[in-house]
Amino acid sequence: MNNRTFTIIKPDAVAAGKTGRILDMMIGGGFTLRAMRMTRMSREDAEKFYAIHRDRPFFGELVDFMTSGPVVVAVLEKEDAVKSLRELAGNTDPAKAAEGTIRRLYGTNVGCNAVHASDSDENAVVESGQFFGEEMK
Ligand code: TYD
Repeated sequence: MNNRTFTIIKPDAVAAGKTGRILDMMIGGGFTLRAMRMTRMSREDAEKFYAIHRDRPFFGELVDFMTSGPVVVAVLEKEDAVKSLRELAGNTDPAKAAEGTIRRLYGTNVGCNAVHASDSDENAVVESGQFFGEEMK
């Protein structure tokens, strides 16, 4: 399954009123929305979502940030979706992200970087399942 990916429009971008512009970039980039909703992540949600980073020094701040306000979670469809969305999102650090990418335009720093984009087909399935469960089966 290489046609779906999962995204989060993070609390910084939602709070800054960039949700519409970011969705427009995704849709304009050829993605179709398959599922979407606004939610507020609990600490449990964020710790589970970023479990792979549990032992990293930034984990506590990452969980604080991801739970600091509402987010928009969505499943997106396009050919080669994972790679395509990571290109559109840009480098994790907005200062290193290419011109025209979402993180370059709307990210603030490596922690507050506007969007999440799954890094593999396997993770796209797991992450979509965390928020959309049965809907995605
Ligand atoms: P990572 O999986 O390395 O990046 P990406 O989101 O581009 O796949 O990191 C996950 C998130 O962790 C990242 O989006 C923001 C946060 N993070 C920090 O807060 N500080 C850091 O030094 C790194 C590497 C990531």
